[in-house]
Amino acid sequence: MQNISSSFKLPNGSILKNRIAKSAMSENFGTRYHAPSSGLIHAYRVWTKGNPGLLITGNIMVDSKALGEARNVVVEDYKHFKELKEWAKAVEGTGVHLWPQINHPGRQAFAAINREVFAPSAVPLKMGGASKMFKTPKALSENDIWNIIKRFGNTARIMKEAGFTGCQIHGAHGYLVSQFLSPNSNIRTDKWGGTLENRTRFVLEIYREIRSQVGPNYPIGIKINSADFQRGGFTEEESIDVIQLLGNEGIDLIEISGGTYEKPAMIKGNRKKSTIEREVYFLDYIEKARKITNTPLMLTGGFRSVTVMENALASSKLDIVGLARPFCLYPELANQIFNGSVKRFEAPIPKIGIHLLDKLGGVELPWYELQIHRLGKGKLPKKDLSGILAFWFSVKSLFIKSFWKN
Ligand SMILES: Cc1cc2nc3c(=O)[nH]c(=O)nc-3n(C[C@H](O)[C@H](O)[C@H](O)COP(=O)(O)O)c2cc1C
Repeated sequence: MQNISSSFKLPNGSILKNRIAKSAMSENFGTRYHAPSSGLIHAYRVWTKGNPGLLITGNIMVDSKALGEARNVVVEDYKHFKELKEWAKAVEGTGVHLWPQINHPGRQAFAAINREVFAPSAVPLKMGGASKMFKTPKALSENDIWNIIKRFGNTARIMKEAGFTGCQIHGAHGYLVSQFLSPNSNIRTDKWGGTLENRTRFVLEIYREIRSQVGPNYPIGIKINSADFQRGGFTEEESIDVIQLLGNEGIDLIEISGGTYEKPAMIKGNRKKSTIEREVYFLDYIEKARKITNTPLMLTGGFRSVTVMENALASSKLDIVGLARPFCLYPELANQIFNGSVKRFEAPIPKIGIHLLDKLGGVELPWYELQIHRLGKGKLPKKDLSGILAFWFSVKSLFIKSFWKN
């Protein structure tokens, strides 16, 4: 029987020493030149001490002209190789895997920090009042598309050379890969849009490019949406077809999530009664996915108790449990679970009472980012950290960056 502390062998032969993974959380903690800061690296030393099987970094951008957040780490050349090697050293000799999550934001790129924004099609985000923070994107040309595909491979190879032990493509949450998959954001009429086969071409070519640059034995994973949960968007049925294709290509680990900036199901679940009752998001989907693929599956979203994790693993619906917010408040969570000192681990949803901000995670995300910054500075997490302070931090980082860049 699978249990949380048992090891897991990926198809390429790499071993994850247990079933707990820290899922990606954008730390917004790079330097102003987009290198990993010493604080960011230190946060990973703290997490490594907690002994999870896998640490996935916050999203790392493939192009410094396409940022999701002001202080993203960007890896497009060897400029920050020394710092990347230092980062990879955080797990050296521990058996903990450290994978970068590789991303391009496409249209989910704040206007304040990006001069030009590109996406599959010139379709703006529809986020009510918050739409003003984003530009209408320009449609990518065929050359631009191939350039980005190469960039994903380039970033993965550099990270591998620096000592990272695998990588993950960010194919979820409405960023560029997910924009290509969704008929709402991809209305192209060429070979990159229209049918599901065409919309899937981008992610498959990214996988192939990374594979050709990192070689056959290096773990490559992907985080993908079970659905966008939007009318006319990427559906569950389509998602099932895509993960089957990725499995056939030889991908090593598929992490399931869901949602976009327009519909942030990744941090709220899809609000079905069954989801709330079961604590975990997207569990219905993973049951269907398990039936059609043997590729290892990881599920992230909502896990807050050891019993639920154990039951999910024992049912064999999934192989790896992904946790994000709990890792900010319980940095040594895996060890605490193994030694029995933690059975439940709550991750609160801080609010400031401004509906639009609270709804879109405008307070919650920076609140958790600030907890990561505390870890990086050698401090303990602070459960009563002010929501207003978190909001101010996100405004400040966007404003200062826009002043520097534009
Ligand atoms: C501060 C913060 C930053 C996040 N950044 C990323 C990211 O860079 N990439 C990603 O795939 N998911 C990101 N997420 C989503 C998480 O990986 C995860 O899917 C979500 O929080 C649900 O898991 P949880 O309930 O265990 O927190 C982020 C979440 C938070 C709270």
